[in-house]
Amino acid sequence: MSAVDAGRLAAEFRAVFGGDAPDGLFTAPGRVNLIGEHTDYTGGFVLPFAIDAATTAAIALNDSGRLRLASRSQDGVVEIDLASLAPGAVEGWAAYPAGVVWALGERGVTIEGADILVDSTVPTGSGLSSSAALECSVAVGLRDLTGSSIGLDELVLACQRAENEMAGAPTGIMDQTASLRGAAGHAVFLDTRDQHSETVPLPLTEHGLVLLVIDTHVKHEHATGGYADRRRSTELARDTLGVGALRDVTVADLGDAERRLDEVTFRRLRHIVTENQRVLDTVQTLRSSSPAEIGPLLDASHASMRDDFEISCTELDTAVAAARTAGAYGARMTGGGFGGSAIALVRSADVERVSVAVREAFDAAGCAAPDIFPVEPADGARRIG
Ligand code: GLA
Repeated sequence: MSAVDAGRLAAEFRAVFGGDAPDGLFTAPGRVNLIGEHTDYTGGFVLPFAIDAATTAAIALNDSGRLRLASRSQDGVVEIDLASLAPGAVEGWAAYPAGVVWALGERGVTIEGADILVDSTVPTGSGLSSSAALECSVAVGLRDLTGSSIGLDELVLACQRAENEMAGAPTGIMDQTASLRGAAGHAVFLDTRDQHSETVPLPLTEHGLVLLVIDTHVKHEHATGGYADRRRSTELARDTLGVGALRDVTVADLGDAERRLDEVTFRRLRHIVTENQRVLDTVQTLRSSSPAEIGPLLDASHASMRDDFEISCTELDTAVAAARTAGAYGARMTGGGFGGSAIALVRSADVERVSVAVREAFDAAGCAAPDIFPVEPADGARRIG
């Protein structure tokens, strides 16, 4: 994927804000989740990786008492009085960067004023965490420019709080962890209960493999609708079963849980419990064999999201089925669901065949053409200028 042109962004920063060059340029990637979906707000396991599409923030600090926010993909400049910055005060895309300023302030990283211009190569609403990329680019920038020693785990929590409370999306900590802790050639294995993370090698090229993203262009919003509903179901299961976190329920406990939960809540629980186990199995497989071996786990994850958690849609199911039939080792939807993207693990020699098959299947199903592109595990957020 193409990178943001840092030189051009710096020049535009001066034009937009009519002043000096930015103090620094900071980039943070989007992510693909390899496996472990909707487990991150239940204290479970996830295995995402940062991708080579990112948001770049050009930032200058000042003592104006105001925050000025601009984006190359949005009209105008959003101006906010820092004294009135609080949940509910900012709407739209600006709630994410403004939320980071607010949440960092709550953690003692305060600023007196700032100008921020962002640009991104992460498609929005595609399940690739454009929100986390935006939050994390601003977060690392403010940390760096204020000279704060706040740690990465705290930055993750500040970005999550920005998203939960300022943008109103009740999401977990997976996306921000991937964006801040990503490493080229690796996935990030995260235990969301204690925030412990480890990188796990994901040597795709070395094994002649490609991970394709199939962006269905079906847009989703996590601030409304199904995402929050699924979260409530998992909380109901947790409270009814009387466990601290659903992570404490194992596959062996499912029989007993089925007797104590209503049918829908049980299926939601079964997805979480089996998905946690699939993450552990995927990590173990990656540590001992070729990544091609994780194919069946990807397939099982998709089936669980389609049938038990019910967060897939026609386009995602079409993408997964067509990729599998055309020879993918495994495929699944990725991200929050209800739209967004699927991923397919394929032999490099099969990329064309799988892509053509998916496009044909979309056409036959009367769905708008998807975007299909490869992604590689990339480095996490950092200063670039
Ligand atoms: C979105 C959220 C994440 C996670 C995924 C589902 O990406 O931002 O926190 O819950 O959905 O796994």
